[in-house]
Amino acid sequence: MTVSLIERFRRVLPVTESTPVVSLGEGSTPLLAAPRLADAGGIRELWLKWEASNPTGSYKDRGMTLAVSKAVEEGAEAVICASTGNTAASAAAYAARAGLPALVLTPQGAVAGAKLAQTRMLGATVLEVQGDFDSALSAAQELGGRGSHVLVNSLNPYRREGQKTAVLEIVEELGGPPDAFVLPYGGGGNTSAYSQALSELGLGTPIVSVEATNRRETLATAIRIGDPVHAEAVRASGARVVHADDDELVAAWLRLASEEGLFCEPSSAAGLAAVLRGDVEGDRLVVTITGHGLKDPATADRLAPAPVEVEPDADAIAAAAGR
Ligand code: F0G
Repeated sequence: MTVSLIERFRRVLPVTESTPVVSLGEGSTPLLAAPRLADAGGIRELWLKWEASNPTGSYKDRGMTLAVSKAVEEGAEAVICASTGNTAASAAAYAARAGLPALVLTPQGAVAGAKLAQTRMLGATVLEVQGDFDSALSAAQELGGRGSHVLVNSLNPYRREGQKTAVLEIVEELGGPPDAFVLPYGGGGNTSAYSQALSELGLGTPIVSVEATNRRETLATAIRIGDPVHAEAVRASGARVVHADDDELVAAWLRLASEEGLFCEPSSAAGLAAVLRGDVEGDRLVVTITGHGLKDPATADRLAPAPVEVEPDADAIAAAAGR
């Protein structure tokens, strides 16, 4: 039987025997070697933590299983979040699983279409806020503070407790820490969660957090966040923050797909962009790939090589294929 994240890591999570476990089979994601990209980057060992294989297609499920389970335990009547799309889908899924209503605030016009479709399918009420992610988050926080809804953004400490398990899985699987963890930096919740995991393990492994050079306008809508809510925690954690511009993000994203067979969403390639630029020191690196490429098919359609039209004829096809 599938082991839920809460069952697997019960000993290090704030749950008791009476906490209801709201699970969709999250966590225990693949840690994949990336030999071609390692060679290209002159790195001895490059590992990719493939978080797209979580139930809703992103790492958010690690935190959401715990946040929604605790919300149910504490008698919540509804959950709320602001989201660039992945938290939305995850909150909607776990709320549906728990039989709770979910209210999702999205920045209007700035969420990949498949994420919205996913969230709507999962039964959440989706309100498109006439503003950016930061203003949607402020509104969600305010409404959460009134007591009608439990906030399940990463300001909710249970989200970070759940997300820290990615580090535990990696360290367990490698038989020790890598030389560095590399991950995208949007609001900073995941960086805070990784940092929390390392301090609980008594490890000083460096974290490199990669933000979009132009936070407010990046094509990577998942991390289009002007004012990261965990900026202070990220600073305090000692994580090294570096930038990647859209050209670097897209180049890393295309290479990850065509050279290693992993189709992620553009924001998820941020860590790899920094690694391929030679910006991360170490012989053994772990890069977290946060979300699935099918989350943002429009960007893939726009930037991937276009198909070529051909007659249904073997010679024509061979000629078009160049062999
Ligand atoms: N990668 C993906 C695929 C994301 O969806 C996000 C954030 C990040 C990276 C950044 O992580 O915020 O913990 O630093 N997505 C949020 C959302 C904002 O609403 O889905 P962070």
